[in-house]
Amino acid sequence: MNKNIVILISGSGSNMAAIVKASRKGHWPQRLGAQVVAVISNKADAAGLVFARDHQIATAVLNHKAFGSREAFDAALMVEIDRHEPALVVLAGFMRILTPGFVQHYEDRLINIHPSLLPAFTGLNTHQRAIDMGCKFAGATVHRVTAELDHGDILDQAVVPVLLGDTAQALAERVLTQEHVIYPRAVESLLTQMT
Ligand code: GAR
Repeated sequence: MNKNIVILISGSGSNMAAIVKASRKGHWPQRLGAQVVAVISNKADAAGLVFARDHQIATAVLNHKAFGSREAFDAALMVEIDRHEPALVVLAGFMRILTPGFVQHYEDRLINIHPSLLPAFTGLNTHQRAIDMGCKFAGATVHRVTAELDHGDILDQAVVPVLLGDTAQALAERVLTQEHVIYPRAVESLLTQMT
Protein backbone atom coordinates (compact mmCIF):
# COMPACT_ATOMS: atom_id res chain seq x y z
CA MET A 1 0.00 0.00 0.00
CA ASN A 2 1.29 3.44 -0.93
CA LYS A 3 1.02 5.67 2.11
CA ASN A 4 1.33 9.21 0.86
CA ILE A 5 1.90 11.91 3.44
CA VAL A 6 0.85 15.52 2.78
CA ILE A 7 2.13 18.16 5.20
CA LEU A 8 0.52 21.58 5.67
CA ILE A 9 2.62 24.48 6.95
CA SER A 10 2.35 28.25 7.43
CA GLY A 11 5.86 29.20 8.54
CA SER A 12 9.32 27.89 9.18
CA GLY A 13 8.29 24.28 8.76
CA SER A 14 10.84 22.86 11.16
CA ASN A 15 8.46 20.07 12.20
CA MET A 16 7.85 19.24 8.55
CA ALA A 17 11.63 19.14 8.02
CA ALA A 18 12.04 16.83 11.02
CA ILE A 19 9.45 14.44 9.55
CA VAL A 20 11.07 14.49 6.10
CA LYS A 21 14.51 13.84 7.61
CA ALA A 22 13.18 11.00 9.78
CA SER A 23 11.42 9.45 6.77
CA ARG A 24 14.65 9.38 4.79
CA LYS A 25 16.91 8.31 7.63
CA GLY A 26 14.44 5.62 8.70
CA HIS A 27 13.86 4.38 5.14
CA TRP A 28 10.09 4.82 5.40
CA PRO A 29 9.54 4.22 1.66
CA GLN A 30 11.19 0.80 1.83
CA ARG A 31 10.08 -0.22 5.34
CA LEU A 32 6.62 1.32 5.50
CA GLY A 33 5.73 2.15 1.90
CA ALA A 34 5.37 5.74 3.06
CA GLN A 35 6.75 9.06 1.91
CA VAL A 36 6.15 12.78 2.14
CA VAL A 37 4.78 13.61 -1.31
CA ALA A 38 3.71 17.22 -0.91
CA VAL A 39 4.05 20.29 1.29
CA ILE A 40 1.28 22.86 1.05
CA SER A 41 1.32 26.33 2.59
CA ASN A 42 -1.25 29.11 2.91
CA LYS A 43 1.65 31.58 2.82
CA ALA A 44 3.89 32.03 -0.22
CA ASP A 45 6.82 33.18 1.94
CA ALA A 46 6.74 30.21 4.33
CA ALA A 47 10.41 29.31 4.77
CA GLY A 48 9.57 25.61 4.92
CA LEU A 49 8.70 25.66 1.21
CA VAL A 50 12.37 26.18 0.39
CA PHE A 51 13.36 23.11 2.39
CA ALA A 52 10.67 21.06 0.65
CA ARG A 53 11.76 22.15 -2.82
CA ASP A 54 15.40 21.48 -1.95
CA HIS A 55 14.35 17.96 -1.01
CA GLN A 56 12.48 17.35 -4.28
CA ILE A 57 9.07 17.40 -2.64
CA ALA A 58 6.14 18.89 -4.54
CA THR A 59 4.95 22.19 -3.09
CA ALA A 60 1.84 24.30 -3.48
CA VAL A 61 0.69 27.64 -2.12
CA LEU A 62 -2.94 28.47 -1.52
CA ASN A 63 -3.38 31.99 -0.21
CA HIS A 64 -6.38 32.00 2.12
CA LYS A 65 -6.83 35.74 1.55
CA ALA A 66 -7.79 35.03 -2.06
CA PHE A 67 -10.92 33.20 -0.95
CA GLY A 68 -14.23 34.71 0.10
CA SER A 69 -14.93 32.35 2.96
CA ARG A 70 -13.33 29.74 5.19
CA GLU A 71 -15.43 27.10 3.43
CA ALA A 72 -14.22 28.18 -0.03
CA PHE A 73 -10.58 28.06 1.07
CA ASP A 74 -10.94 24.67 2.70
CA ALA A 75 -12.70 23.29 -0.39
CA ALA A 76 -9.82 24.39 -2.62
CA LEU A 77 -7.32 23.06 -0.10
CA MET A 78 -9.04 19.67 -0.13
CA VAL A 79 -8.76 19.53 -3.94
CA GLU A 80 -5.05 20.32 -3.72
CA ILE A 81 -4.45 17.75 -0.98
CA ASP A 82 -6.54 15.01 -2.61
CA ARG A 83 -4.49 15.16 -5.80
CA HIS A 84 -1.89 13.29 -3.75
CA GLU A 85 -4.30 10.64 -2.40
CA PRO A 86 -2.94 10.96 1.14
CA ALA A 87 -3.02 8.25 3.75
CA LEU A 88 -2.07 10.90 6.28
CA VAL A 89 -2.48 14.69 6.37
CA VAL A 90 -0.08 16.29 8.83
CA LEU A 91 -0.62 19.81 10.19
CA ALA A 92 2.79 21.22 11.10
CA GLY A 93 2.43 24.81 12.22
CA PHE A 94 -0.53 25.29 9.87
CA MET A 95 -2.10 28.35 11.47
CA ARG A 96 -5.63 28.04 10.17
CA ILE A 97 -8.86 27.07 11.89
CA LEU A 98 -10.34 24.27 9.79
CA THR A 99 -14.02 23.88 8.92
CA PRO A 100 -15.95 20.85 10.19
CA GLY A 101 -16.34 19.71 6.57
CA PHE A 102 -12.56 19.63 6.11
CA VAL A 103 -12.01 17.76 9.36
CA GLN A 104 -14.72 15.22 8.49
CA HIS A 105 -13.27 14.67 5.02
CA TYR A 106 -9.95 13.55 6.55
CA GLU A 107 -11.42 11.73 9.54
CA ASP A 108 -8.87 9.30 11.03
CA ARG A 109 -6.03 10.57 8.83
CA LEU A 110 -5.56 14.14 10.08
CA ILE A 111 -3.12 14.97 12.87
CA ASN A 112 -1.66 18.11 14.46
CA ILE A 113 1.07 19.17 16.84
CA HIS A 114 0.24 21.77 19.47
CA PRO A 115 2.83 23.50 21.68
CA SER A 116 1.31 22.70 25.06
CA LEU A 117 0.46 19.74 27.24
CA LEU A 118 -3.12 19.35 26.06
CA PRO A 119 -5.78 19.58 27.35
CA ALA A 120 -4.08 22.59 28.96
CA PHE A 121 -3.61 25.76 26.91
CA THR A 122 -5.52 25.26 23.70
CA GLY A 123 -5.27 28.18 21.26
CA LEU A 124 -2.49 30.74 20.93
CA ASN A 125 0.33 32.12 23.13
CA THR A 126 0.68 28.81 24.93
CA HIS A 127 4.19 29.45 26.27
CA GLN A 128 3.49 32.87 27.77
CA ARG A 129 0.30 31.55 29.32
CA ALA A 130 2.16 28.61 30.87
CA ILE A 131 4.77 30.98 32.31
CA ASP A 132 2.10 33.38 33.60
CA MET A 133 0.28 30.52 35.33
CA GLY A 134 3.47 29.51 37.12
CA CYS A 135 3.60 26.08 35.45
CA LYS A 136 6.69 24.07 36.35
CA PHE A 137 6.41 21.98 33.20
CA ALA A 138 5.34 22.65 29.64
CA GLY A 139 5.52 20.65 26.45
CA ALA A 140 3.89 19.62 23.22
CA THR A 141 1.17 17.23 22.10
CA VAL A 142 0.55 15.31 18.89
CA HIS A 143 -3.16 14.65 18.54
CA ARG A 144 -5.83 13.63 16.10
CA VAL A 145 -7.79 16.56 14.75
CA THR A 146 -11.48 16.95 15.52
CA ALA A 147 -13.85 19.79 14.71
CA GLU A 148 -13.10 21.26 18.15
CA LEU A 149 -9.85 23.28 18.16
CA ASP A 150 -6.86 21.49 19.77
CA HIS A 151 -8.94 18.53 20.91
CA GLY A 152 -8.88 14.91 19.74
CA ASP A 153 -7.12 11.76 20.87
CA ILE A 154 -3.61 12.32 22.19
CA LEU A 155 -1.01 10.31 20.26
CA ASP A 156 2.22 11.48 21.88
CA GLN A 157 3.51 14.13 24.28
CA ALA A 158 6.82 15.59 25.40
CA VAL A 159 7.46 17.40 28.67
CA VAL A 160 10.07 20.08 29.33
CA PRO A 161 10.77 22.08 32.49
CA VAL A 162 9.83 25.76 32.75
CA LEU A 163 12.96 27.41 34.09
CA LEU A 164 13.23 30.40 36.40
CA GLY A 165 13.24 33.59 34.36
CA ASP A 166 12.11 31.82 31.18
CA THR A 167 10.85 34.00 28.36
CA ALA A 168 8.16 32.70 26.03
CA GLN A 169 10.78 32.48 23.30
CA ALA A 170 13.24 30.48 25.39
CA LEU A 171 10.49 28.09 26.42
CA ALA A 172 9.22 27.82 22.83
CA GLU A 173 12.69 26.83 21.64
CA ARG A 174 12.99 24.18 24.37
CA VAL A 175 9.58 22.78 23.44
CA LEU A 176 10.26 22.90 19.70
CA THR A 177 13.35 20.71 20.10
CA GLN A 178 11.11 18.06 21.62
CA GLU A 179 8.43 18.54 18.96
CA HIS A 180 11.03 17.41 16.45
CA VAL A 181 11.37 14.17 18.41
CA ILE A 182 7.73 13.31 19.02
CA TYR A 183 6.17 14.33 15.71
CA PRO A 184 8.23 12.00 13.49
CA ARG A 185 7.80 9.29 16.11
CA ALA A 186 4.01 9.67 16.15
CA VAL A 187 3.81 9.71 12.36
CA GLU A 188 5.95 6.58 12.10
CA SER A 189 3.83 4.85 14.70
CA LEU A 190 0.61 5.65 12.81
CA LEU A 191 2.10 4.49 9.51
CA THR A 192 3.18 1.25 11.13
CA GLN A 193 -0.39 0.62 12.30
CA MET A 194 -1.79 1.12 8.78
CA THR A 195 -2.00 -2.09 6.78
C1 GAR B 1 5.27 24.70 16.44
O1 GAR B 1 5.70 25.07 17.71
C2 GAR B 1 3.88 24.08 16.51
O2 GAR B 1 3.67 23.33 17.66
C3 GAR B 1 3.03 25.34 16.51
O3 GAR B 1 3.63 26.20 15.61
C4 GAR B 1 5.03 25.93 15.56
C5 GAR B 1 5.40 25.68 14.13
O4 GAR B 1 6.79 25.57 13.97
N1 GAR B 1 1.68 25.03 16.15
C6 GAR B 1 0.63 25.69 16.63
O5 GAR B 1 0.71 26.62 17.40
C7 GAR B 1 -0.71 25.18 16.11
N2 GAR B 1 -1.77 25.72 16.89
P1 GAR B 1 7.39 24.98 12.64
O6 GAR B 1 6.75 25.74 11.48
O7 GAR B 1 8.85 25.29 12.73
O8 GAR B 1 7.11 23.50 12.58
